[in-house]
Amino acid sequence: MALNQTIQHRQQRGSTSKLPCRGAAVRRPVRCTRLHVAAGGKVYLDPVRKECAAFAPATVANLGPGFDWMGCAVQGGGDTVIAKVLPGRAGEVVIDAIQGDGGRLSLDPAKNCIGVAATETLKLMSGAVSCGVSLTLHKGLPLGSGMGSSAASAAAAAWAVNGLFGAPVSKDKLILAGLASEAAVSGYHADNVGPSLLGGFVLIRSCKPGEPVELLQLPFTAADRLHFVLVNPCFEAPTAEMRAVLPKEVPMKSMINNCCQGGALVAGILRGDVRLIGESLDRDVIIEPVRGPLIPGMLAVKEAAKAAGAYGCTISGAGPTAVAIVDDPAVGERVAAAMSDAFRSAGKLEVNTAQVVKLDTEGAKFV
Ligand code: HSE
Repeated sequence: MALNQTIQHRQQRGSTSKLPCRGAAVRRPVRCTRLHVAAGGKVYLDPVRKECAAFAPATVANLGPGFDWMGCAVQGGGDTVIAKVLPGRAGEVVIDAIQGDGGRLSLDPAKNCIGVAATETLKLMSGAVSCGVSLTLHKGLPLGSGMGSSAASAAAAAWAVNGLFGAPVSKDKLILAGLASEAAVSGYHADNVGPSLLGGFVLIRSCKPGEPVELLQLPFTAADRLHFVLVNPCFEAPTAEMRAVLPKEVPMKSMINNCCQGGALVAGILRGDVRLIGESLDRDVIIEPVRGPLIPGMLAVKEAAKAAGAYGCTISGAGPTAVAIVDDPAVGERVAAAMSDAFRSAGKLEVNTAQVVKLDTEGAKFV
């Protein structure tokens, strides 16, 4: 017989937290988790609500020379996951539905980034959970776009499942769930899932399988002046394929160049210097020269962006989206038009979306 002993476990974490979940009516000063002890003494973590929805934003990773170690979250789009309690199916994860993927993603939780992220999130909780979780994914980002589509799904799933149980796992730890998910679909890199969870600019100082992950969230004080021009052509560049073409070794002078430009990129972020950020991300000589030719029109798009007033332009993520940096939204609109024209004329590609967006500083959030 279960002891039916319920323990309300309140975790102080700062003075306030955001609305924990859909349907909550008030701001809650603390997060709450709920435990019960079953016969035999096993402690179970109970859900604190029946349903929880979370949104996670798009990301721009690499930022040129920051390959696999720098990324940022951007406004303007993302993915949403709704997690629901599955009573009596402790620890089980199922995917109920996926919308916005054109039917292309698997509903098998072992083969889908939200399923993997949800399963890993449950493992990160201290103790067994007393129920299962069913998931619904609303894709807001195109697949294989270079805007961190799989990472946004994983981050939203991890945050929604965490919210179902009162958010017992910190975002820092949830990176591990996101990484497991990324590894399953594209490769073990945290430069998308880190910023999608945390928001802002995130430097990945260490990220090797089996070792602790070290992330540095960089302060940025010029969010009002930094604008990203994101132009997504109708073309797919699956991350796994775009990683397969990368060189195994690089010449010393290329390494020196990318270290200089990567350092300048970090300096630009810390100084709030939009021009320096743009000029630095423009000067990657290792990754972009290999991937660029695989994206029709990319070289012309880069030149068109700068001719129209951008400080710099590169491939967003593994592509095909191109990202340019400006400090004025009106210039951004002109740059977006020039980049779109170049994709059409030089690349013979239609343009899916062209947007001018700002930095997202919040990351994954309950909605
Ligand atoms: N760093 C990763 C890559 C990001 O460029 O392969 C993928 O979005």
